[in-house]
Amino acid sequence: MSSNQPFVLRWGIISTGMIAAKFVGDILIDPSTRTVDDVVHKVVAVGSRDAIKAQEFINKFAQGDKSIKAHGTYEEVYVDKDVDAVYIGTPNTYHYQNSKDAILAKKHVLCEKPVTMNAVELKSLSTLAKENGVFFMEAMWTKFQPLSGALKKVLEDGRLGPPVSLHADLSLDFDIENLPTTHRILDPMLGGGALLDLGPYLMVWAIMTMYEHPDNKGEEPGHIATSMLRTSTTGVDASTTFVLTFNKTLQAQAILSCSITLPAVRPAGNIRFRNGNVVIHSPLYRPSAFTVEYFDKPGSGNVVDRTAKEFSYIGEGLYFQADEVARCIRDGKLESSEWGHDKSLLEMKVFDEVRI
Ligand SMILES: NC(=O)c1ccc[n+]([C@@H]2O[C@H](COP(=O)([O-])OP(=O)(O)OC[C@H]3O[C@@H](n4cnc5c(N)ncnc54)[C@H](OP(=O)(O)O)[C@@H]3O)[C@@H](O)[C@H]2O)c1
Repeated sequence: MSSNQPFVLRWGIISTGMIAAKFVGDILIDPSTRTVDDVVHKVVAVGSRDAIKAQEFINKFAQGDKSIKAHGTYEEVYVDKDVDAVYIGTPNTYHYQNSKDAILAKKHVLCEKPVTMNAVELKSLSTLAKENGVFFMEAMWTKFQPLSGALKKVLEDGRLGPPVSLHADLSLDFDIENLPTTHRILDPMLGGGALLDLGPYLMVWAIMTMYEHPDNKGEEPGHIATSMLRTSTTGVDASTTFVLTFNKTLQAQAILSCSITLPAVRPAGNIRFRNGNVVIHSPLYRPSAFTVEYFDKPGSGNVVDRTAKEFSYIGEGLYFQADEVARCIRDGKLESSEWGHDKSLLEMKVFDEVRI
């Protein structure tokens, strides 16, 4: 293969649910539409607990491509010699076992958020992936959207100073009164509740704003405060609020909330500095824009310069994370430098503490 040909990553898809369908739809979009020419994605296998569902999924979301194999078990995907990387889109409580099985079969893994149910599971997978020499990443797609890269530049150019406060909310009304208690968002056996479903996006913003900030020097929050409201039917959390206090090097707080019984707050987030604000537009998992406001002098609150940066994507924007996976695998990396195991582990440690 000549060096100017794109690297082709061959994916095996685990499960045929809602997000797996969106992921496949996105990665099959021509990369040139997002000005990418170094990597290409190919779906070579789909695994379901039911082979008929796998074939129906291929017919519906992969244009019935006859070269894609429909497997009636996940295991057949793990051992499929044509598969380089596995995408896992099962409910939360299955992520650990599915990822473990794929890693042991020496497949690279991109696993949906939350990557595991707790920090212990994640540490074990992180070690296992390294021992088996395979790439492993949580599907934290927000981090790989161009908006996040643009925001990082604004946060780090120094004009706003260090962050002092982040208020972020991600709420989505799942109409839980009319959902069966076996639905993944309500069933504790599937890892239901607001925190595990929506909390990962709160964490990506806290991590981008505070944990990754150069002034933070990689310190984890020194204090976590939390409060939860539970559903009367299954006991999973309906609304959760938690505050991360970064008090070791930064002096900053992330005030984070999520709910499965309310619509989204607009705007979704506000990062506050002594020299201005960054307002994050909804939805928090794929913001369409952010607005930067600068004050005339530190602490005045008097905005003298306001700039909005807008972004639009073809499809859902789930392909940016897949491009990262392909580039890392091509380059022999076992972790992404953008969303490495340390960041998922911080997320898991915070969630463990929030649920105590
Ligand atoms: N990145 C995002 O934007 C995003 C959005 C929504 C959800 N997610 C994450 O993606 C995961 C799946 O969410 P989803 O909304 O796609 O769920 P879903 O529509 O219910 O699909 C889950 C799939 O997992 C498989 N599965 C295996 N064991 C299962 C069980 N015991 N019960 C139900 N399904 C089972 C099923 O596929 P087969 O029958 O084919 O085996 C099912 O279709 C969750 O971890 C969630 O947090 C991410």
